[in-house]
Amino acid sequence: MQALRRHDRQVLGVSLQHVRTHHWWRDAVIYQVYVRSFLDSTGDGIGDLAGVRAGLPYLKKLGVDGIWLSPFFPSPQHDHGYDVADYCDVDPVFGDLAEFDLLMAAARRLGIKVLLDIVPNHCSSEHAWFREALAAEPGSEARARFHFAEGRGVDGEEPPNNWHAMFGGPAWSRVTEADGRPGQWYLHMFTPEQPDWNWRNPEIAAEFDRVLRFWLDRGVDGFRIDVAAGLYKHPELPDSDDPEADYRTRDAINQLAWNQPEVHDVWRHWRAVCEEYTARDGRERLLVGEVSVPTAREHAEYVRSDELHQAFFFDLLRTPWDADAFRKVVSEAMADIAGTGSTVTWVLNNHDQVRTVTRYGEAAPEGSGLGAARARAAALLMLALPGAAYVYQGEELGLPEVVDLPDDVLTDPIFHRTGSRMHVRDGCRVPLPWSGQASPFGFTTGGDGVRTWLPQPEWFAEYATERALADTRSFWHMYRDALQLRGSLPQLGEGTLRWLDSEPDVLAFVRGDGLVCAVNFGTAPATAPVPGTPLLASGPCPAGELPGATAAWWLADL
Ligand code: GLC
Repeated sequence: MQALRRHDRQVLGVSLQHVRTHHWWRDAVIYQVYVRSFLDSTGDGIGDLAGVRAGLPYLKKLGVDGIWLSPFFPSPQHDHGYDVADYCDVDPVFGDLAEFDLLMAAARRLGIKVLLDIVPNHCSSEHAWFREALAAEPGSEARARFHFAEGRGVDGEEPPNNWHAMFGGPAWSRVTEADGRPGQWYLHMFTPEQPDWNWRNPEIAAEFDRVLRFWLDRGVDGFRIDVAAGLYKHPELPDSDDPEADYRTRDAINQLAWNQPEVHDVWRHWRAVCEEYTARDGRERLLVGEVSVPTAREHAEYVRSDELHQAFFFDLLRTPWDADAFRKVVSEAMADIAGTGSTVTWVLNNHDQVRTVTRYGEAAPEGSGLGAARARAAALLMLALPGAAYVYQGEELGLPEVVDLPDDVLTDPIFHRTGSRMHVRDGCRVPLPWSGQASPFGFTTGGDGVRTWLPQPEWFAEYATERALADTRSFWHMYRDALQLRGSLPQLGEGTLRWLDSEPDVLAFVRGDGLVCAVNFGTAPATAPVPGTPLLASGPCPAGELPGATAAWWLADL
């Protein structure tokens, strides 16, 4: 028998006052729809808004509270819609405003909330204001909406500072002035096709106010905010002390370009706009930020009660498969974020990350199935934690990453700007398989001859939604059962978490007055932390036992 380790019998969680007033978003489970890869209604091999509408009954059956739609606005698609040319319209590839209204109405009928993805840090170089800026003079009002600056060195040949762009290369590009001569430089923290807005110019705040209201008036339930620690740059745009370090990871660590104090005023204002709409009709709107900051404490500042409702807590996603590491990260999140009055927003995956099954399988022996088993266990763990959770499309199917897409089909600007496949994101964006034995696997209405925008491998057949629905042992059924239990058991969702003593490699905690969740991070079976039969388990779970790479939920009499 292995010795039990002792952990403080600490209760982590929000105060009862918060537990009593229910706000739907505090423990919502939101499904991320990557529109171009969800379902195609036009036969062009690219998913669209009518496809999302057709897929809503599937999502209703799964039991999610809402969906977040990746950007569908007019865009040259250099970064798949995260380069927005017009914030108040629909790109013809994805439909039109009338189709958007139909989608909203259908979602409303099914009780599914709809969040849009808004990109306020930068726009597209095709945006009318950026084109106007290019045509205008240095020092003009049109250029003041962006960060235009003179270069350094002889004839201004060097960029204004030494910052790197997140996707490789310098963060500045030089323009050609009207007289044909090389001129000023403009700042882009991502690709050159994504010029950064100058938020120190009040016109930008006013414009985004208009954009928010445009979509709120069309009935949306809220927004996912891209690069929400961005927007403001250091006012002097000084050199960074360590520019190499600033871009070595995909996370925003250039402290001069991100996480400036002024950004919090923007979120206070946006929150006030949401509250204004709530005051009119009683429907709570939700702002969820993509916040990449170094510590949980800084993260917590974004979800103070008058700022964003939620901010994705990415630390969970980055945590290696290890019981102690998970315990630490969950404890930190609970301690730092619960005090703000918000809840933690858990994420294990999204359209920028290697899919969970593949990530957790990386160090495991080939063919061991450990990646899938761990991904299932991690999902049950996440869905048992207090707070809200986001699930990226295809994760409910246990879809692995497509790691062997040939170079010539890769579309991610990270690949084209760095020449490296290291952080390339196409592999998690391959169009979903719905049915059948061969590509396009029911993804499109266009018939069997249609080529999907990224090629689907043959082995996708095994993961089609049709098969998943028919097999009660599938990932899909586990997710559905977990979501149903979340809806019916008061211990789940928001509330407290108390760690239980457990064997090494096992993480065990109690929710509320007796729901126990335990995860065995090891490979050898452990003893179940409480007597009885699990309510739900991520794999076969004999009574009294918790097999390796398995999570289970029990209702215990504690
Ligand atoms: C966010 C998005 C990512 C995009 C980037 C630039 O990180 O999630 O997909 O490329 O912002 O907008």
